[in-house]
Amino acid sequence: MGKALFVTGTGTDIGKTYVTALIVKCLRDAGLSAGYYKAALSGAEVAADGTLLPGDALHVARVARLDAADVTVSYVYRDAVSPHLAAQIEHRPMDFAKVAGDYCRAKKRTDYLTVEGSGGIICPLRWDDDEHVVLDDLAVRLRLAALVVADAGLGTINAVVLTAEHLRARGIPLRGFIFNNWQGGLMQEDNVRMVEEITGARVLARVPHGAAELPMGADALAALYA
Ligand SMILES: Nc1ncnc2c1ncn2[C@@H]1O[C@H](COP(=O)(O)OP(=O)(O)OP(=O)(O)O)[C@@H](O)[C@H]1O
Ligand SMILES: [Mg+2]
Repeated sequence: MGKALFVTGTGTDIGKTYVTALIVKCLRDAGLSAGYYKAALSGAEVAADGTLLPGDALHVARVARLDAADVTVSYVYRDAVSPHLAAQIEHRPMDFAKVAGDYCRAKKRTDYLTVEGSGGIICPLRWDDDEHVVLDDLAVRLRLAALVVADAGLGTINAVVLTAEHLRARGIPLRGFIFNNWQGGLMQEDNVRMVEEITGARVLARVPHGAAELPMGADALAALYA
C-alpha cells in the first residue's frame, strides 16, 4: 500500500490542479511511482461523442506523463457547480463505498498518491435525504493529511487561516501551504510571514504564474505523504 497526500485549497479555481500537476511531475522526475485520485469532478469537458472528460485528471496526466491507469476520478459530472448539486441534477449521487474502493485501489497501485479535493475544504459532495457528506468528512474517512494551495496575493491571510483552523477542528493533519501565482514583493512576503505566525504551519513552496516545475525538493515533498 502506497502513501497519500490530500491537496485542498482556499477555494475553487485557486490552482489545485495546476500545483498538483507540478507535484506529481516532481515525484516522477525523481524516479518515484506516483498517481492521481479525485473523488468528484464537476464541470467536465464534453467530447464530440458526448463522453464526459475529467479535465483536471487529464491535465495532471499530461504534465506528469502518467499512464491512464494511474489516474482515477470516481465521479465526473457535467455541470460546473458543486458536486452535490451536479449529482442532484444528474440523479447520480456519490456512493462513498465506491469512493473508498477506488481510493484504496489507486493507493495500492502507486507509492505516492496525490488526492485532489473539489473546491475548498467546505465543498458538499452529497446532500440528499439519505446522506450529508462534505469534503472534510471524506478527508477524515480516508485518514488523509492536507496540503493547502492558496493564492499568494491580497486576501490570502483570511482564507488560509480559516482553512487551517477548520482542518484542525476536524482533526485533519495540516502539512503546510503552497502559495500560487507568486510574484514576491512586500505584501506577498508579509502574507507568508503572517500565515506562518498565525497558523504555526509553513509555506512550503511559492509557485510563480506559468511555472513548469515545483520549486521544492522531491525528498521534502515525498516526506509529506503518509
Ligand atoms: N501558477 C499558475 N500559472 C498559470 N496558470 C495557472 C496557475 N495556477 C492556476 N492556473 C490556471 O488557473 C485556472 C484554475 O486553476 P486550477 O484548475 O488548477 O484550479 P483548481 O483549484 O484545481 O480548480 P477546481 O476547484 O475547479 O478543481 C486554470 O486555467 C489553470 O491553468
Ligand atoms: Mg482542479
